Amino acid sequence: MQVRSAVIPAAGMGTRFLPATKAVPKELLPIGDSPALQYVIDEALGTGIDHIVMVSSRDKPAIESYFEPMPELVESLEAKGKADVAERIRSIGRDWRVSVVYQDSPRGLGHAVGCAREAVGDEPFAVLLPDEIMGDSSLLAQMNAVCLDTGGSVVALKQVPRDEVSAYGVVAPGGPVDADGVVPLTGMVEKPPADEAPSDMIIIGRYVLTPDVFDEIAALTPGAGGELQLTDALLAQAERAPFHGVLSGIARHDTGTPLGFLTAAIEIILRDPDLGPGLREFLATLEP
Ligand code: G1P
Repeated sequence: MQVRSAVIPAAGMGTRFLPATKAVPKELLPIGDSPALQYVIDEALGTGIDHIVMVSSRDKPAIESYFEPMPELVESLEAKGKADVAERIRSIGRDWRVSVVYQDSPRGLGHAVGCAREAVGDEPFAVLLPDEIMGDSSLLAQMNAVCLDTGGSVVALKQVPRDEVSAYGVVAPGGPVDADGVVPLTGMVEKPPADEAPSDMIIIGRYVLTPDVFDEIAALTPGAGGELQLTDALLAQAERAPFHGVLSGIARHDTGTPLGFLTAAIEIILRDPDLGPGLREFLATLEP
């Protein structure tokens, strides 16, 4: 068995990136020559996932355009001898399938994931929040394995200082963290005040969920911030089935704010064999 579908919620209007996002969706802002979204897709594909489910908004047609085949562009690039770029363009959506579904109103992350129900079908699936870019596919691959092993849902976790927890979903462990970082969970709460948080382990934007979560999502009532919270649906799952977290120290770039995006782009491009050396040289010329 293999987790086949990855849901990427991308219906948000990118208000923190205005005016850039007035015309260009945040997910398509570039890191080097790739949209940020492509890094998230590549992470999913790296685990063997072959179906990307974009939860988009009708106000962001550029998301759909990104996946449309462009045979004329490919041909003209090839005619100009640019075979490598041609291949990169051709490969978008070729070896994997894309479904685009629409979230018509911004009612929260739980609602966004619920919009993917039909596209995912009745099997375990991953959720990747595109505001976070991971160093590689290893964490998601491990989570897929834990889900298939335990038959229950899995969330990615990170330990943070107590005063940072209230911006996140926070979990209640039901036992010790094992040598691989796997920990059973008995509870979770969305954005609790720091002094009421059950631990210092926060949910980061990667999930592998069993499909019964869609019933829990359908039964949600507004939670923190008046939104339909995915965390509340996960709590309902954890109360009646095995539920695990994977505590990870993976490189994680938070691209949710303009400064976060810029620093993530710099870190990612410094590791890029083509663009990295030039950027490093430029940075060295700046005042300390
Ligand atoms: C969402 C989730 C939250 C999680 C966070 C990770 O919150 O609701 O549980 O900890 O992503 O980034 P948001 O950042 O959308 O407020």
